Amino acid sequence: MGKFMLFLLLGAFSLVFFQAEARICVACKMFINGRCVDGEGKCTMEEGGSCAIRDIYVFKPRGGFFYNHTVLECSKPCKASKESYFHLKISSFCCRSQDFCNSYKRKISNKYAN
Ligand SMILES: *[C@@H]1O[C@H](CO)[C@@H](O)[C@H](O)[C@H]1NC(C)=O
Repeated sequence: MGKFMLFLLLGAFSLVFFQAEARICVACKMFINGRCVDGEGKCTMEEGGSCAIRDIYVFKPRGGFFYNHTVLECSKPCKASKESYFHLKISSFCCRSQDFCNSYKRKISNKYAN
């Protein structure tokens, strides 16, 4: 019984320790066609921050907004959102569930969907 309790205690401790640990996120300034072409690395997110994936859409006179590239980064704050600027739209995805949770695997659609 004593050993079992110790085991439980250890488990609880490691859980607390794990949660207090800072998250490491994938960082990439320019992610295109499934690979990082500029600024590849990793970053450690601050407390309260998130790992982020931002899809950047650029306005083309013919046809509207089209997907241009993706940025992977540590972000604080990070909110899942779609923001519009003059000729840019940025679609953000945030996560903090595990290290490198923002590694880019999601399929993107070429045309920006409102
Ligand atoms: C769009 O992607 C190209 C690389 O394919 C990059 O050089 C350019 O800066 C990007 N445009 C914007 C507005 O970020």
